[in-house]
Amino acid sequence: MEKILIVDDEAFIRENLERIISEDNYRPISTESPEEAIQIVADEEVSLVLLDLNLGSSSGLDVLRAMREVDPEILVIIITGYGTVESAVEALKIGAYDYIKKPFKADAIHLIVKLALETQNLRRIVKRLSRDADGINMVGNSPSLMQIFQQIREVAKHEMATVLITGESGTGKELVAQAIHNLSPRSEQSFVEINCGSLPFNLLETELFGHERGAFTDAKNRKIGLFEEADGGSIFLDEIGEMDLSLQVKLLRVLEDLKIRRLGGNRNIEINVRIIAATNADLKAALEHKEFREDLYYRLNVFPIHIPPLRERREDIPLLLEYFLQRFSTEFNKSIRGFSRDALDLMLRYHWPGNVRELRNVVERICIMSNVELIQPAQLPREIWGESPQSEMPFSYEIPPEGIVLDDVVGQVEKELVEKAFRITGGNVAKTARILNVPRGTLRYKLEKYQLSNG
Ligand SMILES: Nc1ncnc2c1ncn2[C@@H]1O[C@H](COP(=O)(O)OP(=O)(O)OP(=O)(O)O)[C@@H](O)[C@H]1O
Ligand SMILES: [Mg+2]
Repeated sequence: MEKILIVDDEAFIRENLERIISEDNYRPISTESPEEAIQIVADEEVSLVLLDLNLGSSSGLDVLRAMREVDPEILVIIITGYGTVESAVEALKIGAYDYIKKPFKADAIHLIVKLALETQNLRRIVKRLSRDADGINMVGNSPSLMQIFQQIREVAKHEMATVLITGESGTGKELVAQAIHNLSPRSEQSFVEINCGSLPFNLLETELFGHERGAFTDAKNRKIGLFEEADGGSIFLDEIGEMDLSLQVKLLRVLEDLKIRRLGGNRNIEINVRIIAATNADLKAALEHKEFREDLYYRLNVFPIHIPPLRERREDIPLLLEYFLQRFSTEFNKSIRGFSRDALDLMLRYHWPGNVRELRNVVERICIMSNVELIQPAQLPREIWGESPQSEMPFSYEIPPEGIVLDDVVGQVEKELVEKAFRITGGNVAKTARILNVPRGTLRYKLEKYQLSNG
């Protein structure tokens, strides 16, 4: 059972917190003594500390500093009373995770503790992943990604096995291709990549096969093609589905004979190359439409690796968010601690049509644009929170036989919407007013009327 240390000089608060913490199946340990608290952090495995800033004679800030000295990774949530909010902000700078104001509600404690522990856990996983990355530069812990890691390790060993990687755009096909090369016995040799969709047929052909001098009008010198360049290593043929049918025939021959001939040349050159191909197109459909050769398809598909879209492995989302947040907040010198519960919920629900690339771009943009501590829904692009289901509203538009009281029903709708907007913006009045398109004064009046406020 995870232990949570409570440090407060008021017995009543300690008991209250102990009760709340126990409800979530954590084991509370509490003390009023700062010295004892620091000793406990040093001696025991404590997952989290709830620390009162006003500890009679000692300053909570000093206690926090001392705790972080004995355990630099200790997770601390500050509890502040009246007039100590400034010190709480100071505490965040020293490394506290968050603070909560007195008087607090039990729900607020449940929530903040859960979020803090989850964040801590993600940080540990990301750290571990980047420490023993073992050549696979990919983050995720979904069963499907675990299986892909396994497939990568397996196929990497067979150095000549051809691999076909499929998956929507932005799912990480290029990373998989690189990982296969990096983990293979060929890792010291070259990894050559070419996007088959980016060049017209004849240019792609000379890129891949090279040409002799004088092979065509512009061929003033001999050119070595990519297959030769990749000799001993791997070649990554990206967007293979875009390859022209006549070039497909030539590629098939390369796969069968492991020989190439430069354009305008008259001898075959043996090559020793592992071929890794990728596509985000539906090759099966292309087969049916005769846009992709069946024989080539089977030749390439010796070892298929399919990467599911992000929306089918949502378990990876929190980890990817944390990974990119750490990366970009360091890069842009920001001290963003994490995502609020609401922001995380919205992102877990979003369907991510651009997959990991889109997620990465969202986090990067937030890190460039924002200076917040905790990312709120308001910082997310519109499409992400535009998608939350509207259907959960508890009223209906039916008019029963006895009729309705129009003002009441309209009021209920209004309350729902104001509440929702207020939650989405993390309780920011100005932003709520903006997304509801009402003057701030009107919004304040409504917040009061419906007893919604962030106090
Ligand atoms: N599991 C992952 N962990 C970390 N980064 C990832 C992961 N998956 C994808 N990325 C990142 O997402 C971006 C897109 O990945 P990548 O280029 O490999 O996708 P792709 O499938 O090749 O897309 P496309 O079909 O558009 O070429 C890259 O910045 C990549 O580093
Ligand atoms: Mg790619």
